[in-house]
Amino acid sequence: MKTILVTGSNGLLGQKITEHILRTKQFNLIATSKGANRYPVQEGYTYAEMDILNPEQALEVIQKFKPDAIIHTAAMTNVDTSHTQPELATRLNVLAVKTLVDIAASENIQFIHLSTDFIFDGADGPYDEEAEANPLSHYGKTKLEGELVVKNSAAHWVIIRTILVYGIVSDMSRSNIVLWAKGALESNRPINVVNDQWRMPTLAEDLAEGCLLAVEKGAQGIFNISGKDMMSVSELVAEVADYWKLDKSMMNEISSASLNQAAKRPVKTGFILDKAINELGYQPRSFQEGLVILDQQLKDTLL
Ligand SMILES: NC(=O)c1ccc[n+]([C@@H]2O[C@H](COP(=O)([O-])OP(=O)(O)OC[C@H]3O[C@@H](n4cnc5c(N)ncnc54)[C@H](OP(=O)(O)O)[C@@H]3O)[C@@H](O)[C@H]2O)c1
Repeated sequence: MKTILVTGSNGLLGQKITEHILRTKQFNLIATSKGANRYPVQEGYTYAEMDILNPEQALEVIQKFKPDAIIHTAAMTNVDTSHTQPELATRLNVLAVKTLVDIAASENIQFIHLSTDFIFDGADGPYDEEAEANPLSHYGKTKLEGELVVKNSAAHWVIIRTILVYGIVSDMSRSNIVLWAKGALESNRPINVVNDQWRMPTLAEDLAEGCLLAVEKGAQGIFNISGKDMMSVSELVAEVADYWKLDKSMMNEISSASLNQAAKRPVKTGFILDKAINELGYQPRSFQEGLVILDQQLKDTLL
């Protein structure tokens, strides 16, 4: 059985990978993150503290557990924080990637790296894996540089690009669009939503499955992993409102220009998923299917 080491295991994707492995028992898992373990179950895997900005600690942990694959989910993931703290974003999204992928190369470990649709400018989505990148934000630039570090390394590498991930896990350090919209509309808080940005939102479980398929198949190269439905952000929020029967009159549709966000966002991203479907056996869910799964999880956590 292969052993997988996950970085950023406290995050949304990290916890979904942990959940999937504990359920399927398909791999041995070494979960690593900065600070204490926030996944609610402590048995069935090993947790080790690993700060990706600490190269000595990373080397020590990876050499101790000798994984067959590393799934590198840890990053600075907030687009606006990357804009206001550009140096930290570069350290996390570029320099730490170099540290880890070099260790993976020297220890003969498959390296699965997570990237984003924000490497594109959004002028002509949906994109395939060969499309030319042109990031608009510092976040997008650092993620593209991280990709180049991975591609130029001597490791057996995979780059998985994804889009607007949603889901729920324990003790989350940041929210996501579905939970934010649901929470605001439930408490009758008016919200501004843009109607001129298009995405293919991704259920966190689908992304976790895509990463694990890449390990299972010993894949190599770039793969797009997202949900299968393209929609504007305002359509997405309207679907959330309809699903939970919430009052859509609290939704205020606006243009991106009037939202005044710190970092610029691409207009229309979205991915062509054929490669992941054909080569990995990836099965993307629709947004409606994703909401059904999330709804059940929310009900289970209330029990
Ligand atoms: N979420 C999206 O919409 C989205 C879209 C496109 C691409 N991606 C990419 O997908 C990957 C996973 O994203 P996600 O949604 O799971 O993000 P997330 O929930 O923000 O998880 C990232 C994790 O990285 C951890 N981390 C931060 N600094 C660290 C450090 N120095 N050492 C170790 N761990 C550290 C964070 O720890 P704390 O929880 O303690 O802060 C967090 O748990 C990222 O590479 C991201 O760029 C995400």
